[in-house]
Amino acid sequence: MTDGHEGVPIRKLPTGVPGLDDVLGGGLPELSFNLVIGGPGSGKTTLAHQIMFANVTAQRRGLYFTIVGEPPLKMLRYQQQYRFFDPAKMNGMIRFSSLSGEIQLGLPAVLESIVRQVEAVSPGWVVVDSFRSVLRVNGREGAPEVQDFVQRLALHLTAWEATTFLLGEFPGTEAENHPVFTVADGLVVLSQQTERNSVVRKIRVVKMRGQSDLPGLHTFRITRDGLSVFPRLPKPEEEEPASTAVSIAPDQERLSTGIRRLDEMLGGGVPRGYSVMVAGPSGSGKTVLSGQFIVEGVRRGEQGDRHLREASLPLPADHQPGSRPRPDDPPRPGGHGLPSPARPFRR
Ligand SMILES: Nc1ncnc2c1ncn2[C@@H]1O[C@H](COP(=O)(O)OP(=O)(O)O)[C@@H](O)[C@H]1O
Ligand SMILES: [Mg+2]
Repeated sequence: MTDGHEGVPIRKLPTGVPGLDDVLGGGLPELSFNLVIGGPGSGKTTLAHQIMFANVTAQRRGLYFTIVGEPPLKMLRYQQQYRFFDPAKMNGMIRFSSLSGEIQLGLPAVLESIVRQVEAVSPGWVVVDSFRSVLRVNGREGAPEVQDFVQRLALHLTAWEATTFLLGEFPGTEAENHPVFTVADGLVVLSQQTERNSVVRKIRVVKMRGQSDLPGLHTFRITRDGLSVFPRLPKPEEEEPASTAVSIAPDQERLSTGIRRLDEMLGGGVPRGYSVMVAGPSGSGKTVLSGQFIVEGVRRGEQGDRHLREASLPLPADHQPGSRPRPDDPPRPGGHGLPSPARPFRR
């Protein structure tokens, strides 16, 4: 039975970025205004280009403005290296417009030019690349003017009959307090984290109005194909295909862990005969948890049914004792060194 209040369905557009639609909760809501925030080199421009090239048509054209950063010709020289870059779409379907001249005249001139061009072209996709909290305008740096400009621009971007993006070049933490946040339908933060000697790129959907996105940080990669996102969690509504799912027979005997709530979460306990990896930084409770599991076996009078093997795997610097563990981090199985010899469990 329904209450007759189902609402108008919002069409979700595929982004063309592998893995991103799942993270967004099914795709980009049509006609949404989205903020993409991140430091230099975090992938904002590449993401916006990739989405645009995947979606523009002769009917729903794209208009791409550059305010700050490199001139469009230089930007395009690099962007042409990506496989998604389709020169056939360059004339007619996507127009690149540099606002470097207008910025010399001040931010009102920049806004006026954007509005004029959008009204002339009636695009289906608009990207403004990019703003910073402080912009050098007319030879001087202004913060209140930028705030005002971004607010006005955001109101236009929400009002146009187009799916729009505003790219912001500053760290995500600063973005979340920015007033423009409240008017955006979507807020996506891109970041780069240094783990040991390598850089790991992360994407986080802070909000996506009207749909349930996958929370937390997801890893992504940039290659010649552009961005590829690896969702941290499986899609909640989707069952794993039967061929790859680990099937546990409903009548499979379960061994209680000795922790009632954990047994409930595991569907009754650990299936007999299974190996379970308990991973976490030093001091997080691995040994206590496993100890309880063994003691529960002894308490139940089982004979040698439960075994414990401890292995220490070097963790990245920010997981070392004394540092704050990050609950979002996935477990890091193998590949980081050899396990230490097994120790028998003693109480
Ligand atoms: N073929 C490639 N393979 C891997 N990484 C690449 C490739 N081309 C560009 N990159 C990386 O992608 C990033 C480009 O980011 P960009 O979209 O320009 O970021 P932003 O607009 O946020 O400054 C750079 O950090 C660059 O190192
Ligand atoms: Mg850029």
